[in-house]
Amino acid sequence: ETRLEKIHNVVFEDSITASKMVAQEIAALIREKGKQGSKCVLGLATGSSPIRVYDELIRLHKEEGLSFRNVITFNLDEYYGLSRENPESYHYFMQEQLFDHIDVLPENIHIPDGTVAPDDIEDYCKSYELKIKSAGGLDFQLLGIGRTGHIGFNEPGSHVNSRTRLVTLDHITRVDASSSFMGIQNVPRKAITMGIGTVLVAKRIVLLGWGNHKAQILRDTIEGEISSEVPATYLQRHGNTTFILDTEAASEL
Ligand code: GLP
Repeated sequence: ETRLEKIHNVVFEDSITASKMVAQEIAALIREKGKQGSKCVLGLATGSSPIRVYDELIRLHKEEGLSFRNVITFNLDEYYGLSRENPESYHYFMQEQLFDHIDVLPENIHIPDGTVAPDDIEDYCKSYELKIKSAGGLDFQLLGIGRTGHIGFNEPGSHVNSRTRLVTLDHITRVDASSSFMGIQNVPRKAITMGIGTVLVAKRIVLLGWGNHKAQILRDTIEGEISSEVPATYLQRHGNTTFILDTEAASEL
């Protein structure tokens, strides 16, 4: 049984098995929508947490004929100031980790553009929201979590009704990103991210958490009081969110 829907927390021995389950759920949704002749709208995340899910989706495409021709994707966020050619950009990450290996149509891929001119950001963010809406809304949103309790780049202080916008990254977030940027001085200070409000209207949300370093923030997220100080706590108000954790990440629950 690969149906995890409506289950609140699921703890797995290891992140590989867990990631396979999540990929199976996504694949089932894509196939179901395909049978109905409709599009499947996926909200996608970057970072190390979803990589194994993407690996499994690629395997399902290559070995089991899973097609992504009816899939429309919207990524959560992008560093502000990075072009799609920059190896640290989320555009680059998504191409390398997923899109280059599946048959999703390029015109159906959406990732916030980190190179929009300052004067155009507001309009650009509105149009990103409109695109999600006109695609029919997010059927499924995949999330990781940052040590600050951010989802996407919605740092502490983010409003529950926030929408796609330019944000300033938390110091802890920049510290965590510093090794891949070869020093904190190279980590962008801003990003464009979908808002909490954007994420919360997704019909289904799955948050992935692996490892000891996520245990504390996951406890605060799942068991703590709902507060903008830990933006991920707003997921408690969403009726169809599952936290998929490994034993280390669940060790403080
Ligand atoms: C970044 C991303 C988030 C992600 C977080 C955690 O900040 N913007 O979407 O959830 O990192 O990353 P990781 O999965 O590598 O722990």
